Amino acid sequence: MLSGQAGYGAETANSSWYTNDWGEKMKVLVTGCTGQLGFDVCRQLKKRNIEYYGAVRTDFDLRDESSVKNFVRKMKPTVIIHCAAYTAVDKAEDEKELCHSINVEGTKALAEAGKEVNAKMVYISTDYVFPGRGSQFYEINDNKEAVNVYGQSKLAGETVVRSILEKHFIVRISWVFGINGHNFVRTMLKLAQDHDTLKIVDDQIGSPTYTHDLAVLLCDMVASAKYGTYHATNEGVCSWKDFAEEIFRQAKMDITVIGQSSASYPTKAKRPLNSRLSKKSLDNAGFQRLPDWHDALYRYMKELKLAKD
Ligand SMILES: NC(=O)c1ccc[n+]([C@@H]2O[C@H](COP(=O)([O-])OP(=O)(O)OC[C@H]3O[C@@H](n4cnc5c(N)ncnc54)[C@H](OP(=O)(O)O)[C@@H]3O)[C@@H](O)[C@H]2O)c1
Repeated sequence: MLSGQAGYGAETANSSWYTNDWGEKMKVLVTGCTGQLGFDVCRQLKKRNIEYYGAVRTDFDLRDESSVKNFVRKMKPTVIIHCAAYTAVDKAEDEKELCHSINVEGTKALAEAGKEVNAKMVYISTDYVFPGRGSQFYEINDNKEAVNVYGQSKLAGETVVRSILEKHFIVRISWVFGINGHNFVRTMLKLAQDHDTLKIVDDQIGSPTYTHDLAVLLCDMVASAKYGTYHATNEGVCSWKDFAEEIFRQAKMDITVIGQSSASYPTKAKRPLNSRLSKKSLDNAGFQRLPDWHDALYRYMKELKLAKD
């Protein structure tokens, strides 16, 4: 399956494979391609005719160090885009060890194997590495203090990647939505089917991230040697209430959205109130910021409709 093959949906290798910025042929391993981001990263790589392999759990489980390492040694990717993660934020409070073994130990195994084969690696991180106080935009090196187990595991994953691989991109994102999975947009559209009024949290402020737009950026990044840490969400900030209202406005659904505080809507895992992320590092490296989130949502809604048709 590995030799001369690319892709989830297997494409045969050909002579016109896309190369990186200095002309070397790229061979990309994508983890988590059954998830929201991994799915769109694979689609984007395919579109660009970049050789890739989208790994699923039967290829390797991140909890099994030797299966991870053996896979990477065999495939010898030049790039690893690590989209797989334990992402059940509330459940993680009760499954700390499982979350740690996937997000920290699994990432460590992948990074060590990546170093052995001289691959560069993209590690996807989160706004949850920050404490979320105040109303400033977080800069890359601002003080980290994850307020929940999931955030702590993702922060530890960042540390592991930095300590093992020089050739890394750490990309912090937030409020993800994509065609291949569950997310806030889908939940709102479903709830709207049998509710006229919804109460939505209005004191958590952040930015949605459309996986299609992020995948475009990640594919540009891996063709470069502009290693480092980045924040990459769609442009603009909003509360979850604002986000919900825009979803219903664009879907032409007459739903009344009432704001509520996080304190009045307790969840197992604490959430940061301020998830504003500064994009200066993207600007400084000459990467394009992602489009505004309203526009991203508009394109996503069109994609959802097409998927339904
Ligand atoms: N979702 C968000 O709002 C959000 C916010 C900030 C950052 N992020 C980060 O963004 C990245 C992508 O998130 P996403 O929303 O696309 O995730 P997702 O849809 O939940 O997908 C997670 C992927 O990880 C795979 N996976 C989980 N445990 C695994 C294991 N033990 N071994 C191998 N694969 C495993 C899953 O495979 P199965 O299908 O087999 O379970 C799935 O493909 C993650 O790093 C996440 O931490 C997400």
